[in-house]
Amino acid sequence: MHHFTYINNELFCEDVSVADIADQVGTPFYLYSHATLKQHFRAFDGAFSDINHLTCFSMKSNSNLAVLRLVGSEGGGVDIVSAGELYRALQAGIDPKKIVYSGVGKRDEDIEYALKAGIFMFNAESAQEIVRLNHVGGKVGRKARIAIRVNPDVDPKTHPYISTGLKENKFGIDINDAPRQYMVAAGLENLDVAGVDCHIGSQLTQVGPFVDALKKVKILISGLRNAGIKINCLDIGGGLGITYKEEEPPHPVEYAQAIKEELSGSDLTLILEPGRVIVGNAGILVTRVIYTKTTGEKTFFVVDAAMNDLMRPSLYDSYHEIKPVKWLGRPRLKADIVGPICESGDFFAKSREVESFESGELMAIMSAGAYGFSMSSVYNSRPRACEVMVKDDHFYTIRARETYEDLIRGEVIPDFMEKA
Ligand code: LLP
Repeated sequence: MHHFTYINNELFCEDVSVADIADQVGTPFYLYSHATLKQHFRAFDGAFSDINHLTCFSMKSNSNLAVLRLVGSEGGGVDIVSAGELYRALQAGIDPKKIVYSGVGKRDEDIEYALKAGIFMFNAESAQEIVRLNHVGGKVGRKARIAIRVNPDVDPKTHPYISTGLKENKFGIDINDAPRQYMVAAGLENLDVAGVDCHIGSQLTQVGPFVDALKKVKILISGLRNAGIKINCLDIGGGLGITYKEEEPPHPVEYAQAIKEELSGSDLTLILEPGRVIVGNAGILVTRVIYTKTTGEKTFFVVDAAMNDLMRPSLYDSYHEIKPVKWLGRPRLKADIVGPICESGDFFAKSREVESFESGELMAIMSAGAYGFSMSSVYNSRPRACEVMVKDDHFYTIRARETYEDLIRGEVIPDFMEKA
């Protein structure tokens, strides 16, 4: 359920007309619904309310401070993958004791920053990282609480770029090698070995792979406990999919049921790292048609957003529904929706049947709340779009549109280079 609906043929976000926002902030812009975000967080977190758990929103999907603030105020924590994300989380007021840190390439300075901030746990992804964590822990004088991210070799049946739990992926430690690594870690004095972590991929539309991974992880945990290693938390990552087109992913309640069933009778604290399922359908990208053109038998709608704003279609060939902001009931036609960037890969949809838009009209690119703005760039020197949040009948700019000055901030022409 989301709050982007038509009222008298006009697209609204909660009680605000999308066209009115466009008039005031310009295009393109990202638009998030506060009510949808809250509802999604509660639906997910609430599904686990009867067990000991912590929902750590995966902030790589959307790291805007206002979004993080909402998560924090709902009692959530975050899953971070960089020191920059830690900085953002702290700025947003996330409780450090609710932060877990994943990622295959943590540097010493990143580890030090996180230790000093007092985060809850590191998800260690390699034998060498375990050693670094111990080393930096000693240097800082703080024990690093760790889980080892294990790779269970389970096929998540999703896009290859976003599957992470297969043997061939770079993530985690082979589950068969994990017991040995746990023994090593347990012998290191600056580590507090507390958990097992496992994330197998993103945009999963079935519970099966989650359960298969969990079954393997359970065997690992009982083996570790038998060997005297005190495992008290289990991080099962994120990955629950959403509907972009016709996918029918399990509802969080169904997902939670399957997991709770698998863990019944266990005393583990469960950590969850959902990203997309919280924000994906809570945000859209609003853009304006600049030109329409027909060449041969093809029609193009050239819009003012581009792959730098939303790169998912270019990168994964992913589907985002295209809707008119004003529904005029015009005949539909097949068209390519493209941006102004000088690459053929700069498209939002290809040969898609859509309303016959005219130049100047507004278009909504749906399901853009996750991995939308957070993956945006300034390619072609296009200042990044602004982000807007609607709550009830008000809208708030939660990130200003970038300026041309922002584009060159930090750049320096060395003195030896003379002006032409
Ligand atoms: N935890 C870890 C360790 C992850 O690597 C990820 C996502 C998540 C949690 C959250 O997964 P989610 O619940 O959002 O599926 N850019 C791609 C998705 C990349 C996902 C990377 N890792 C896309 O736009 O589809």
